[in-house]
Amino acid sequence: MDVLIPAEQIRERLDALAAEIGRAYEGKPPVTVVGILNGCLMFVADLVRRIDFPVRVAFVTASSYRGTATSPGRLEIHDGLLPDLTGRHVLLLDDILDTGKTLTRIVAHLLDRGVASVKVGVLLRKVGRQEVPFEPDFVGFTIPDKFVIGYGLDFNDEYRHLPYIGVLEGGEG
Ligand code: IMP
Ligand code: MG
Repeated sequence: MDVLIPAEQIRERLDALAAEIGRAYEGKPPVTVVGILNGCLMFVADLVRRIDFPVRVAFVTASSYRGTATSPGRLEIHDGLLPDLTGRHVLLLDDILDTGKTLTRIVAHLLDRGVASVKVGVLLRKVGRQEVPFEPDFVGFTIPDKFVIGYGLDFNDEYRHLPYIGVLEGGEG
């Protein structure tokens, strides 16, 4: 397996991203960070520790992928863990923007619930894969069309624990 983004580089990028997010939300609380499980695990944990204004943290679950299959099946959203978000500014965080379908669906879902605003941050954005027009507000890294694992991202629910982003051998984009 090849290391695409070493842990140190992720840490440096998160420092800059947190500063960028701080500027975007200046004077605009109350903010709730909503992470999309399970992939957002590390990204949310590491990013919120760098944010220096008060935030709440909540999660939704979405699953569309099985194994390497990069054509998403039916997307399931579970929002049973979400608190009341009425009037809150939501910073939605996901591990990776691929086709864009997951984030498009979840943004629509949050707007339905009466949030004041939604901004979207992704750790990774894959080039050449997007199927629906979607512009994230914050992007950690733009990466080539490879199947990546680690730092929250999985293949068959494994490898999430790796502290870096790697390219899975034989994994098609
Ligand atoms: P989208 O709806 O196609 O944008 O899919 C986004 C979701 O697909 C992410 O939240 C990931 O869970 C998953 N995904 C997309 N590409 C990869 C990858 O290279 N490795 C692991 N998971 C991926
Ligand atoms: Mg995911």
